[in-house]
Amino acid sequence: MYLYLLSKANLKLSIAEVMALSKNKEFEVIENGLLLNELVDYTKLAYTKKVFRVLFVSNEKKLLEDMKKFNFNDFYNEDFKLELVNSKNHDLKTLADIIWGKLENPKVNLKEPKTFFEILFFKKTFCCLKLWENNDKFEERKAHLRPYNHPTSLDPRLARCLVNLVDSKEVMDPFCGSGGLLIEAALIGCKITGYDIDQIMLKRCDQNLKHYKIKNFTLEKRDALKLNKKTESIVTDLPYGKNSKVNDLEQTFVCFLKNSYGFTNKLVIVFPDFVESKHIIKKSGWKIKLELKYYIHKSLTKEIFLLFKDT
Ligand SMILES: C[S@@+](CC[C@H](N)C(=O)[O-])C[C@H]1O[C@@H](n2cnc3c(N)ncnc32)[C@H](O)[C@@H]1O
Repeated sequence: MYLYLLSKANLKLSIAEVMALSKNKEFEVIENGLLLNELVDYTKLAYTKKVFRVLFVSNEKKLLEDMKKFNFNDFYNEDFKLELVNSKNHDLKTLADIIWGKLENPKVNLKEPKTFFEILFFKKTFCCLKLWENNDKFEERKAHLRPYNHPTSLDPRLARCLVNLVDSKEVMDPFCGSGGLLIEAALIGCKITGYDIDQIMLKRCDQNLKHYKIKNFTLEKRDALKLNKKTESIVTDLPYGKNSKVNDLEQTFVCFLKNSYGFTNKLVIVFPDFVESKHIIKKSGWKIKLELKYYIHKSLTKEIFLLFKDT
């Protein structure tokens, strides 16, 4: 069993991201821990903080006894460190001493341990081996740090998560703007294609992609409402100019959704919350597989949908 320690900021989104990469449907969530019998391709996750292999499950009272029974040697390599998450009643040194006593050649390494044990105290107690910690520098890719900033560009962590929701090798963004979604897709190895109606945005997108050393990409000036190029998946954030009338926007969105039905099978789409997104989707023929909300600021929440075809 594996435990994914999720970001608490948007738990529903964090769970959806892991499960989109999983072949399993069965999972359990305990606080911000997701338990799953599968190791997904975790290095690309945005909202997972750490991934563990669960060595055994215990509880606060039985922990010492269970630790004394467990053979830590089977999972030990060269040296170790122990960390505790949410511990209220247990002391790190006492628990580390038990592990030390159980090992054949114990050695502690607090800086770069080869074996990282972690005990997580939720409703149950999970004694784990840490497999991965998310050190991806999403913060350094925030829009204002790119050569070309664009105020509506998505947060890089959210953008990565949206790309993971389609779990695809090929990603198209037909309203690519300055490239926030394309950057995150390319960084995890997707083949990327971006279209935008605005040549200046395309130039900015090109510069931004190159800034992150992304080389293979297709960018073209096209009207997203008239596209017909087949693609494995689309991930896109719909345009929502402050000056556009809601009616006009809704017509644009219906037109795009109806059109895209003909040339892709998977679609993650982000709507501003002031349009009737579900009504628009219903009109287009797409079916909703997943629906999530993402708070931007007090006058804007984004609505995220993973859409599929009912075949
Ligand atoms: C919300 S921005 C995209 C932001 C981008 N996803 C990011 O994270 O950087 C929307 C973009 O859609 C483009 N756009 C608007 N109408 C379009 C159309 N009919 N076809 C293609 N692009 C369009 C705009 O020029 C703008 O750059």
